[in-house]
Amino acid sequence: MCGIVGMLGRREAAPILLDALRRLEYRGYDSAGVATVHDGRIERRRATGKLSALAELLERAPLPGATGIGHTRWATHGAATEANAHPHATERVAVVHNGIIENFRALRARLEAEGRRFESQTDTETIVHLLESALDAGMAPEKAAAHALRQLEGAFALCILFAQDPDLMVAARRGSPLALGHGEGEMFVGSDALALAPLTDRITYLDEGDMAVLRREGAQIFDASGAPVERPMRVVAASSVLAEKGEHKHFMAKEIFEQPTVSAYALGHYLNAERTAVRGEAADIPFDEADRAVLVACGTAHYACHVAKYWFERLARLPVEIDVASEFRYREPPLSRRDVAVFVSQSGETADTLAALRHARPQVRMAAAVVNVPESSIAREADLAMPILAGPEIGVASTKAFTNQLITLAAMAIAAGRRRGALDAEAEARLVGALSELPRLMAEALRRAPEIEAAAARIAQARDVLYLGRGPMYPLALEGALKLKEISYIHAEGYASGELKHGPIALVDPQTPTVVMAPRDALFDKTVSNMQEVMARGGRIVLITDAAGAEAAGEGAERVIRMPDCDPFVAPILYALPAQLLAYHAAALLGKDVDQPRNLAKSVTVE
Ligand code: AGP
Repeated sequence: MCGIVGMLGRREAAPILLDALRRLEYRGYDSAGVATVHDGRIERRRATGKLSALAELLERAPLPGATGIGHTRWATHGAATEANAHPHATERVAVVHNGIIENFRALRARLEAEGRRFESQTDTETIVHLLESALDAGMAPEKAAAHALRQLEGAFALCILFAQDPDLMVAARRGSPLALGHGEGEMFVGSDALALAPLTDRITYLDEGDMAVLRREGAQIFDASGAPVERPMRVVAASSVLAEKGEHKHFMAKEIFEQPTVSAYALGHYLNAERTAVRGEAADIPFDEADRAVLVACGTAHYACHVAKYWFERLARLPVEIDVASEFRYREPPLSRRDVAVFVSQSGETADTLAALRHARPQVRMAAAVVNVPESSIAREADLAMPILAGPEIGVASTKAFTNQLITLAAMAIAAGRRRGALDAEAEARLVGALSELPRLMAEALRRAPEIEAAAARIAQARDVLYLGRGPMYPLALEGALKLKEISYIHAEGYASGELKHGPIALVDPQTPTVVMAPRDALFDKTVSNMQEVMARGGRIVLITDAAGAEAAGEGAERVIRMPDCDPFVAPILYALPAQLLAYHAAALLGKDVDQPRNLAKSVTVE
């Protein structure tokens, strides 16, 4: 079955349409495409094969525009080629279609006789040319759509865009289901509520024969006779439309392996098309008017803030204070208009983080939110909401949200450096270029999964595990330890490796594996010394490093996981993946409930 999505948005449509199409992958497809309306023009990107091909195409050549449609095609009429992929379009209209136009041959013959030139073998393309004929006859877009629909026989769900009106989308249903989604000043269309689950739970299902004329503030629906009609809007609980795990055993595994793709969404949103500069909300924060950034979050999101502290201080020369939200407001921190506060939360509903936002916002220059759920409380109450575009994260253990939080925070730190004159355009381009490598590097890192699974087998036997890292890899050690303990229930602690001699080394013995997270960066040699102190006491090392690091210090480690070479700037993002996989495989080997670990909730909405 084909999948249809549409969006009349207030933000870039393409990454969101692509994520919506991912939620329709279960329907089966062999090509896909997206089209948007921008500056009076229709542009589209289409690709055969998996959505990853379309994602790479969009990564290379992003589609501007907040109005768009998308489609996954399961070939019926015409082979699975790019030319046959939807959307089908001319300069004035774009169409996506699910179903079969039974009288398409007769229509095509008539249209070709009128001089219309077809570029595909599909039945769908006849709709495009019927619309063109009606527009040529001087009809308004909505009238042209109704006119075209009346000439169709067969089953269809359609979504239509018009270059001349970016605030208009027409949807129609005859035989194939179609849902309208009501957002905040945005409207969506989807083959089912699943496609729209992360965008809205307010759904109106079209009835047989309905045509809907959508604007951003809502939809007018007409029944098969053309009479205006009301259809009920209902709240469709997300739990009933949760995406499938696909070929994965757990949501956590699916979400770990989604990171190459969803990282591209965040990169596409926060980096310009040339990949030389930061753009979007990340560039809008007045860090040049601030003396300090205050980063507040809980759990994994807090560790993302901890990594970001290194980036802001190094790249923007901006002092950063970090705190866990549950402590922040109770210590009555002195705040001022010279502070920019940033609240990071995957769910956007964590009670402590929301309370911290409410506490700080009246006192600071700006309260920004880095969130994965755009319509969440934290997003709505912040002065500026910054989406991380990771798509719904179902597993309780945060994985893809963490790396997309880091990408968003990295973009903010670069933008802060530019605003504060600490970075020139050349430095910005270098850092942005390093970030742009992440989808490829992540995919390459995930190919180490078998080695990581083997290492996890030893970790799974332990009662206690130590994680060590230096610099921005120190918060990664904390995050790696959290991942392990929250899903395998093995006690784990993360430490700055320089702290080992100040107590934790007393824990080292042959039964306590130590995971060392150390790319061959400026701090590598010091970390190696700490590692050797552990080995000298019988400690077993799992070293996560790159080729140069393995060459220099792999000797004696029980396991060495070689990561792809990367710019040290992005190492904290990339090295999250082996930490996630170590924890995942240890927990899976122990038969734990990986997606719903005991005692934990995905969003802690109580203090
Ligand atoms: C991370 O794996 C945990 N699930 C937990 O620490 C989580 O990061 C924390 O509860 C914060 O959640 P939030 O990002 O939705 O605010």
